[in-house]
Amino acid sequence: MRAFALASPVVLLNQPAASDTDRILEYCQDPIFERYLTVPWPYDRKHAEGFLDEFVPDGWMTDREYTWAVREPGGSELLGVIGLRLAGESATAKASVHRVGSIGFWLGAPHRGRGLIPEAQRLVADWAFSTGTIDVLHWECLLGNVASARAAWKSGFRYAGVSQSVAAYRDGSYPESWQGHLAAGDDRNPQPCWPAAALAR
Ligand SMILES: CC(C)(COP(=O)(O)OP(=O)(O)OC[C@H]1O[C@@H](n2cnc3c(N)ncnc32)[C@H](O)[C@@H]1OP(=O)(O)O)[C@@H](O)C(=O)NCCC(=O)NCCS
Repeated sequence: MRAFALASPVVLLNQPAASDTDRILEYCQDPIFERYLTVPWPYDRKHAEGFLDEFVPDGWMTDREYTWAVREPGGSELLGVIGLRLAGESATAKASVHRVGSIGFWLGAPHRGRGLIPEAQRLVADWAFSTGTIDVLHWECLLGNVASARAAWKSGFRYAGVSQSVAAYRDGSYPESWQGHLAAGDDRNPQPCWPAAALAR
């Protein structure tokens, strides 16, 4: 797949570029990333460069994972990253009936709490469902990551329970995670049956 942009009045999703290296390096120093994300830790410049030079273009070229930079509409500054993983661990685990993609995302600390990821998720899901790329979108986060759970809940994901994570953590383990699914045709309003602990502010 050739990389392409998605946009709304709230957010622009386009290609991460070499000019984003410093921002990615800066934002990925956040201790929350050590706790909740699978990015390498400690995170240094070679990780940001490898992400931009290899991981992102390879993902598009092989249709394994489509990764976008999150920016303001018309803006050039990288605020965060969102990705749709189509193959590998995430897809195979539950792909017996449906084509499943997994969503992953992060924002730099100054940009959180403005609804940017719910909007970015909506854009990615709309594109992926409308093109028939996937039928079901899988979301998961490590237990305790309430901000991620609230973003998924607000986007209309149905809570699927606590299970071993589909994606490997950086130490190769598959820790317990909160999981949810959004299917093509689901309405995007917050769904019932989410546990209070996942949504506790
Ligand atoms: C998870 C994350 C991407 C959410 O994106 P977002 O665009 O901030 O999402 P929202 O604006 O809908 O906020 C979601 C929740 O984050 C929490 N939040 C709000 N402001 C926040 C801030 N400044 N810092 C941290 N969390 C905040 C709130 O609980 C909010 O829910 P609420 O608005 O219903 O109270 C973002 O918090 C983040 O980058 N976290 C660190 C990386 C991460 O955990 N990624 C997900 C891995 S599974």
